[in-house]
Amino acid sequence: MSYKNILSDNKDGICYITINRPKQLNALNSTTIAELNKAITEADNDNSARCIILTGADTKAFVAGADIKEFATFNIEQGESLARQGQKLLFNLLENASTPSIAAINGFALGGGLELAMACHMRIASDNAKMGLPEVSLGVIPGYGGTQRLASLVGKGKAMEMITTAGMLSATEAKEWGLVNHVCCQEELIPLAEKLASKIKRNSPMAIAKAIKSINAGFTDGVNGFEVEISEFGSCFETLEFIEGTTAFIEKRKAKF
Ligand code: CAA
Repeated sequence: MSYKNILSDNKDGICYITINRPKQLNALNSTTIAELNKAITEADNDNSARCIILTGADTKAFVAGADIKEFATFNIEQGESLARQGQKLLFNLLENASTPSIAAINGFALGGGLELAMACHMRIASDNAKMGLPEVSLGVIPGYGGTQRLASLVGKGKAMEMITTAGMLSATEAKEWGLVNHVCCQEELIPLAEKLASKIKRNSPMAIAKAIKSINAGFTDGVNGFEVEISEFGSCFETLEFIEGTTAFIEKRKAKF
C-alpha cells in the first residue's frame, strides 16, 4: 500500500515503517497517525512479518512530537479527543501488538515522538539522538501516554524531572536512565535493529505474542500479571510451535517456526 506520510516495506520477515515528513521533522499529524495505524495493523496481521522496525526519515529526527501547528487552535473537547484517539489508534495499538517492535531513534524524539518510541517494545538510539517530553514548555502535558510509560521505564522520580524541566537527554544519558537499550552511530542504527530482529525471528512467534501480552499485563491496572502469565504459559502447550520447539531440542536440531 502506498502512503503520503510514511513508508512501509516488508523484507525478509521485517516490516520497516519510516515516518516520512522530514521537512516537519516527522511530526505526527492526524494523517500520519491514521497511516501508522493502517501499516501497524497490516504488519501485525501478516504472519510473514516477524518484527517491526520503526524509524524516522533522514538523520535529524525520529519524530519531533505531535504536530503543534495542527492542534494549536483546538478547544478542550478537541484536545481530549486528540489524546484519546491518538492513544487508541497508534500508541496502545503498537504496545499491544503481537509483533515485537523496535524503535530505531535516529535523531530528535520529542513529545509524541518519544511517546511513540516508548510504545514500541524496545528502543535503540543513534548517538546524535535527543529525547524529551517538552510539552509543559508549550503549556500542555504529554497526551500520548508519556506520563505513564516514561514513569514505568525510568521510574517516577526521573519521569518527574524530565517532564517538569522539559529537558532533553542525550542518547548516552537515555541509556544510563534505562530509556533505550543500546546506542550506536547513525550508520549502525538500522543494522543493529536488524541484528535484534534476526534474533527475534529465530523464535516462536506464538510464544513471543504471549510473552508480550504477559509482560504488558503487569503494567495494566487491575490485571494480575502473574495470573496472565500462568494462563498464557498453559496455552502454549499442545500448539504446533510448542511441539516443534520442544521436539527440536530433544532431537538436537534447530527449531523451525
Ligand atoms: N510540530 C509541528 N512542526 C514541527 C514540530 C512539531 N512538533 N517540530 C518541528 N516542526 C517543524 C518546524 O515548525 C519547522 O517547520 P517550518 O520550516 O515549516 O517552520 C521544521 O519542523 C524544522 O524545525 P525547526 O526549524 O524548529 O528546527 P530546529 O533545528 O531549529 O529545532 C527542534 C529542532 C528543537 C526539534 C524544534 O523543532 C522543536 O522544538 N520542535 C518541537 C518539539 C516539541 O515541542 N515537541 C512536543 C510537541 S507537543 C506533543 O507532542 C503533545 C503530545 O504529547 C500529544
